[in-house]
Amino acid sequence: MEVIIKATVAGALEEAAKILRRQIRQKPDSVLGLATGSTPIGVYAALAQLHQQGDLDFSRVVTFNLDEYVGLASDHPCSYRQFMRQHLFGKVNLAPGNVHFLDGLARDVTAHCAEYEAAIVHAGGIDLQLLGIGREGHIGFNEPGSSLASRTRLKTLTPQTAQDNSKAFGSADQVPRHVITMGVGTIMDSRQCLLLATGQAKAEAVARMAEGPITADLPASILQMHPVCKVVVDAGAAGRLKRAEYYRWVYDNKPAWQRLD
Ligand code: PGA
Repeated sequence: MEVIIKATVAGALEEAAKILRRQIRQKPDSVLGLATGSTPIGVYAALAQLHQQGDLDFSRVVTFNLDEYVGLASDHPCSYRQFMRQHLFGKVNLAPGNVHFLDGLARDVTAHCAEYEAAIVHAGGIDLQLLGIGREGHIGFNEPGSSLASRTRLKTLTPQTAQDNSKAFGSADQVPRHVITMGVGTIMDSRQCLLLATGQAKAEAVARMAEGPITADLPASILQMHPVCKVVVDAGAAGRLKRAEYYRWVYDNKPAWQRLD
């Protein structure tokens, strides 16, 4: 796990956008796993701007989103599909057939989840999975206690996550109880993970993820076992890291070939 600490939120978003840009430029038919939430909005804005300047082509990129609320139609204003339309899909030249999403209205959730897993395999697997982290350490909607080997399936949100995600819905009571999410095992199968976290509210989860024991009590901690995982944080989210100075030292002394332009 490579922890990259940037002084500001803007710096962290820029770093994450550069990593995605490099991935798409190096492999124009990249399969990307995408995340929703407030954290990556600025990353999507940066990618959309690069595209609008003619500097980034999404025409061969394939995407799979991490999760969706059960019971919301894809055009519901609070659905994650709508979020992605607003922040990325409507602004870049992704081919509609290359965009994959979990269906919150699927009748047979189990079969739908199996189809999603099969579609990821059929696409050649995820090259780069973008992730956020919940305050209780979830990735996707794999809440504490999730099997670290789990696959795409139905999950029940914790009251904390419902509260954290309530802004768009008006109140925590309005947030759907259930979601469909890629599993921890599904995420771990991706070739590269890029977890982005900003703000002090994430500092404890980030520290436990990077420096605590690997445990289903904090599902993101399994990323310590991922062969290529970058964690990009601002100073706020880095506030509880014991090895922060070492991570900065590593970054500052990167060999030239590892540096992003
Ligand atoms: P946030 O959500 O970006 O809105 O903080 C992150 C997450 O829950 O994974």
